Amino acid sequence: MGRYSDAFEQARDDREGFWLSAAEAVDWVTPPTCALDDTLAPMYRWFPDASLNTSANALDRHVAAGNGDRDALIWDSAMVGTTRTYTYAQLLDEVSRFAGVLAARGITKGDRVVVYMPMIPEAAIAMLACARIGAVHSVVFGGFAAPELATRIDDAEPVAIVTASGGLEPGRTVEYLPMVAKAIELSETPPSTVIVKDRSEITGAAADHEGWLDWDAAMAGAEPADPTTVAATDPLYILYTSGTTGKPKGVVRDNGGHAVALTWSMSNIYGIEPGDVWWTASDVGWVVGHSYIVYGPLLVGATTVMYEGKPVGTPDAGAFWRVIADHKANALFTAPTAIRAIRKADPDAAELAKYDISSLRTLFAAGERLDPDTFQWAGSILGVPVVDHWWQTETGWAIAANLRGLEPMPLKAGSPTVPVPGYQVGVLDAEGKQVAAGEEGNIVIKLPLPPGTLAGLWRDEERYRKSYLSAFDGYYLTGDSGYVDSDGYVFVLGRSDDVINVAGHRLSTGSIEAVVASHPAVAECAVIGIHDDLKGQRPSGYVVLKAGVEIEPDTLRSELVKMVRDEIGAVATFRDVTVVPALPKTRSGKILRKTMRQIADHEEYTVPSTIEDPDVLSALAKQLGG
Ligand code: COA
Ligand code: AMP
Repeated sequence: MGRYSDAFEQARDDREGFWLSAAEAVDWVTPPTCALDDTLAPMYRWFPDASLNTSANALDRHVAAGNGDRDALIWDSAMVGTTRTYTYAQLLDEVSRFAGVLAARGITKGDRVVVYMPMIPEAAIAMLACARIGAVHSVVFGGFAAPELATRIDDAEPVAIVTASGGLEPGRTVEYLPMVAKAIELSETPPSTVIVKDRSEITGAAADHEGWLDWDAAMAGAEPADPTTVAATDPLYILYTSGTTGKPKGVVRDNGGHAVALTWSMSNIYGIEPGDVWWTASDVGWVVGHSYIVYGPLLVGATTVMYEGKPVGTPDAGAFWRVIADHKANALFTAPTAIRAIRKADPDAAELAKYDISSLRTLFAAGERLDPDTFQWAGSILGVPVVDHWWQTETGWAIAANLRGLEPMPLKAGSPTVPVPGYQVGVLDAEGKQVAAGEEGNIVIKLPLPPGTLAGLWRDEERYRKSYLSAFDGYYLTGDSGYVDSDGYVFVLGRSDDVINVAGHRLSTGSIEAVVASHPAVAECAVIGIHDDLKGQRPSGYVVLKAGVEIEPDTLRSELVKMVRDEIGAVATFRDVTVVPALPKTRSGKILRKTMRQIADHEEYTVPSTIEDPDVLSALAKQLGG
């Protein structure tokens, strides 16, 4: 038996032994004597009798072991042309002092702190500082507009917001402070403390807002805070993600399971050891950024690269190769859309020849399916394994992967390879019956999920049960559909719900629909995710006008585009609006979104037997040229 099957079987058959052994790699205040508490199943808890501090594991332990001079975080901003490096000792100092700033404001264990920041080191420092005092951070992606920030504030009820004067996007400055002020105005539970990192490149400062604190001023007089011991089951963070409704889901991550799972994943999935240089090109606002820009690499004493910039245009399609060469990165983790963007701009990879990227051992991709074409292209230009792996905000780490540090397996284009030890992946039909190898169905994971996965949804156990646990008894519903082939390789084909994936960003069509429907000319609408060569998917809106309303399609389109940008954010990339006479529906009034998507993507489709009026569907097909 190979090392993979040994590990997979042990995690399945001797769960306690497997995870208690993995837990030995973590520094505990009180080590666990048992791994899983299933007394409240299906609400599982990992390492119920243990305690620790996550920031002490990410920082103090490496300094105490004599590695304080090792690089912990390298910030590389292609936007300002700057690099800044923090050793473990320096990062510990910054984090302890910012933890002291928070503590001096009375922020303590269990309090929530919203972090709304661009890709600057202070974002990671703020997250780790919260972890240090046992406060629960909730990072909100900087591409979200004020109303989305307000929704998250109202759900998490934070005592503080940590932000910055702004972010830098190609050709434009994103000013955060007006958005924070607006979100506070919209919020029913505004926080009492706002701390602002004033970036010299962007105007706008704490002093412009009464009572807001300046990061640097607060840090100047800060007393460093020691790590607070928390229970392994205490929450480390809440991260909001898109569900099928407009209201985001607050995924809750614990401290102990998270530290164990991420530590295990760094060496076994990614083959990364202490001292290696690891680069995840994502954003701290997404789960990939939480797990693999901040926590994972630091937990194992690697060096993490934090990049502010894009794969193309900052300044060119060689940006990623430049960063690898400059920092001697051993691995890059990015989204397939970024590789497609590089390929589009530089199909022959001429830029690559300018850089020495011999340090690179592996390219990891996730966030969306790695299409075979992009997989082949990246492999051929880089000459290193290109490894797809599949996961979600909810799981926090990979469900299926090619485990580079355990037993690398042959790669198959279009597949993230095999279930990671700890995850028992199945494919069920609509009735809950396991389908045959190669047959498509709902991808599920047998309960319990392994450590590091969501502990639930913030203060909403009912939604957690309803969204994930109620479809098939004993299983977690991933929301993805796909199949497992006869070799046991998983193939993830796409979402089976109304979540869409635009340039690796997870969005809910429901929340875009809610904005579009609020336009005075709109009687009803549907937003679906259609195929996009660069971004994987993009949202496309279909609108029925109110009777008697006359509006130019171009006017309507630009008004709707502006509304979505103002309400949700630029990241929604909502640009397509088509006015249609009616929307195809079932007899019970459900919009046939899947059939609409098939028509828009010019795919084969069958007319559902439950359709209310087949003529509406054929009219739509004719209009869209399907
Ligand atoms: N703050 C504010 N606005 C942001 C933002 C942020 N952090 N990130 C993106 N936006 C804005 C962009 O400026 C753009 O605005 P525009 O409409 O005014 O041009 C809009 O949101 C869409 O941005 P983006 O999705 O980045 O598209 P793009 O066309 O500018 O670039 C790619 C295309 C492929 C280069 C880019 O999407 C990319 O790098 N993707 C990788 C995604 C990734 O790493 N995902 C993480 C999951 S692993
Ligand atoms: P997020 O929660 O933003 O990480 O998005 C999770 C969703 O992205 C998953 O449910 C999948 O639909 C999709 N996804 C992520 N990684 C992959 C992958 N490697 N292959 C296919 N789909 C993926």
